[in-house]
Amino acid sequence: MPLLEIRKVSRRFGDLVAIDQVSFEIEAGEFFSLVGTSGCGKTSLLRMISGLDTPDEGDILLDGKSLLGIAPEDRSIHTVFQSYALFPHLSVADNVAFPLQMRGKTPATIRARTQEVLEHVALTDKVDHFPHQLSGGQRQRVALARAIADLPRILLLDEPLAALDAKLREQMQMELIRLQRDLGITFVFVTHSQAEALALSHRIAVMNRGRVEQLDLPERIYGFPKNKFVADFIGHCALVEATVSAVDGAYLNLETRHLGLVRAPLAADARVGQRGWLALRPEQLKIGHAGAFADLPNRVSGKVCDFLYIGDVTTYIVELGDGLRVEALLANSAPGRVHFFEEGEIVELAWPAGVGRYLHE
Ligand SMILES: Nc1ncnc2c1ncn2[C@@H]1O[C@H](COP(=O)(O)OP(=O)(O)OP(=O)(O)O)[C@@H](O)[C@H]1O
Ligand SMILES: [Mg+2]
Repeated sequence: MPLLEIRKVSRRFGDLVAIDQVSFEIEAGEFFSLVGTSGCGKTSLLRMISGLDTPDEGDILLDGKSLLGIAPEDRSIHTVFQSYALFPHLSVADNVAFPLQMRGKTPATIRARTQEVLEHVALTDKVDHFPHQLSGGQRQRVALARAIADLPRILLLDEPLAALDAKLREQMQMELIRLQRDLGITFVFVTHSQAEALALSHRIAVMNRGRVEQLDLPERIYGFPKNKFVADFIGHCALVEATVSAVDGAYLNLETRHLGLVRAPLAADARVGQRGWLALRPEQLKIGHAGAFADLPNRVSGKVCDFLYIGDVTTYIVELGDGLRVEALLANSAPGRVHFFEEGEIVELAWPAGVGRYLHE
């Protein structure tokens, strides 16, 4: 039995359908992420799981039993918010102890639990500090410690790292992974950063306009997006209009507007004459001088119109004959601000028949 089941849940605000017949299951011990653009319904869904809001239709079940009608404090589900929501007049230790006191734990239990969770988040040297004496990352760790103090079944995290700078954010990502693994608490993590979701999650649900577009393992979401929305939202991707002109063994021939005739891997639902999109990731495209890739079936020439040095790789933006811009990545093995092609230079982009993904409309 799944730990949590969302069953045909809908939520409307006036005419707006914020959550539209959403169903999925989360297993015990999972690090599960909800991703999607602003306003797609992530927070609305978390609020219904936590009990702060109620679905208009559908059911939410924990261990197979409906949670509807059960008060938030009786659900064994806690939430960590982006804003931390610490009590400013309470010390770190008292902030963490607060929910334990509310549940009527004994002073000895409270002391022991508080010490234990502060060890988990590496804050034992700050027990007597007040929130204003802490950095953003430390405050977030106190909020985390408070949320896990009485070991909930599920921890909901609504963009908990959004206010942190890039470096700290990465560090906290590592800590979240470790904490989740050590405690075995099921995490439902909301982010609009697709990179964060890919890095942290066991499974990801990609949401769009109140619906789940795809629910899958991170590598499947990235490598095998189900439709144009997911391909576009997760990672960088060139999306090229394509019509299926032949289905040939393990491959498709695609007639495209920008790339001419292209060989691509077979897609299960492709039919001759069907219109759709070819999705190509920047790391799938090879970039070189004209004639460099005579052995590859798919080639197109273009002009370098920009490049972006990102340290370990350089991204080249290449404009094709008819104005379409695509990105190609090249790893930098030598130190320094390396780039192999100049702005305005004519280059060839090429890729094997086995990469790229055809998505029908
Ligand atoms: N209480 C409310 N009253 C009216 N509309 C609401 C209410 N709560 C949410 N909405 C609307 O429902 C939609 C989904 O909102 P929600 O907060 O779930 O989005 P989100 O995915 O969390 O976005 P973000 O990434 O910006 O936090 C939005 O269009 C929002 O304006
Ligand atoms: Mg939100």
